[in-house]
Amino acid sequence: MNIGIDKIGFYAPHLYVDMVELAKVRGVDPNKYIIGIGQEKMAIAPPTQDSVTLASNAAKSILDEDDKKKIDLVIFATETGVDHSKSGAAYVHRLLGLKPSIRSIELKQACYAATAGIQLAKGHINLHPDKKALVIASDIARYGLNTGGEATQGAGSVAMVISKDPNILSLEEPNTYLSDDIMDFWRPSYSDTAMVDGKFSNEQYLRFFAETWREHKKTSNLSLEDYTALCFHLPYTKMGLKALRTILDEVDDETQERLKEHYRTSTIYNRNIGNIYTGSLYLSLLSLLEKSENMKAGDRIGLFSYGSGAVGEFFSGILQEGYRQHLHITSHKELLDSRQALSVREYEDVFQERVPTDGSSASFDLEADPASIVLAGIDNHKRQYVAK
Ligand code: HMG
Repeated sequence: MNIGIDKIGFYAPHLYVDMVELAKVRGVDPNKYIIGIGQEKMAIAPPTQDSVTLASNAAKSILDEDDKKKIDLVIFATETGVDHSKSGAAYVHRLLGLKPSIRSIELKQACYAATAGIQLAKGHINLHPDKKALVIASDIARYGLNTGGEATQGAGSVAMVISKDPNILSLEEPNTYLSDDIMDFWRPSYSDTAMVDGKFSNEQYLRFFAETWREHKKTSNLSLEDYTALCFHLPYTKMGLKALRTILDEVDDETQERLKEHYRTSTIYNRNIGNIYTGSLYLSLLSLLEKSENMKAGDRIGLFSYGSGAVGEFFSGILQEGYRQHLHITSHKELLDSRQALSVREYEDVFQERVPTDGSSASFDLEADPASIVLAGIDNHKRQYVAK
């Protein structure tokens, strides 16, 4: 059965900090952030946005009544969930006005969980071809002010509808995957910022890519030249380039140029939003699809997913006839163009404005956030979400 991504959209908060400004204040050469790390703007979430609201805003932008009738599985992939017990999918389910007869769950494995969600959704559609699944990846990446990881933060969500005979990308078999218990990046339950062994995490990302790619070539009988483009999990846009460079010598110069050109296109959104953890790979896919002038139906796209801790997976998909008509190019451009720049001082203030964790109540200024779904505050330990 032909199963894959039928719809895809993203949401990022309306605030960002310019990486040149951040570099100047941190006493770093701006080229380190712009070229060395490969980031230009970093999305900043105000207190009115959390992983639930980002996810709901992303999903709301793509769903129509037919989807709402057919969706019977909601998978909310995040590593910045808002509750240890209740899944973020339960809130999203209500905020989107979905029908009651639905399975809704939250999945976690660092940046990998959305890929697991898509694969589970694929199995579900295989059993129930007339249904659809909603997979949402949503996160706020926080390392802390003045930390080594600061330039690789971000916030945002990607929502996808998975169905049979998809309009955008048909997912192929085989998939190759790898798990290993390592401490490259983690966030203990008591911390709202991530811990990371930066250099080790880069090495592990490359090791997981090398192993899953090698295995994929063996089991698929495909080689690099069979791919029009490769998309990577992008914690920062230089990371995927490092991985791509390790295999470019498998093809001739012309193919190398094509892959490098498509890689650049696949990083445009991520350069301007930052790391959105679970959604980063799919934001990169969206960037490629919406920003490329020369992708076409029938093209094969390879996808490398990596989630610290760690799980990696390599898989692929084929672009479907007429896929461009099902993208939201204009509204995504408007979303990015209408964002508001914060000074570094303002960014630091927003970063430190936290939702209370001591049981006290809070209410936030909803007028300051143009998003249609927002967190209004906390009352009696309950998060108060509002669809404006
Ligand atoms: P750092 O120590 O700040 O940077 O750490 P650096 O000194 O390694 O420099 C970075 C690059 O900038 C280097 O290039 C420099 O040469 C270059 P590279 O050798 O890497 O190609 N550079 C310059 N280039 C131009 N002009 C200049 C200049 N100066 C330096 N003037 C690091 C960087 C990414 C390690 C840090 O930001 C960090 O720890 N980030 C968080 C961890 C991370 O993103 N790891 C990625 C792999 S793990 C992963 O992807 C999973 C993750 O998404 C989490 C999850 O799964 O949930 C993170």
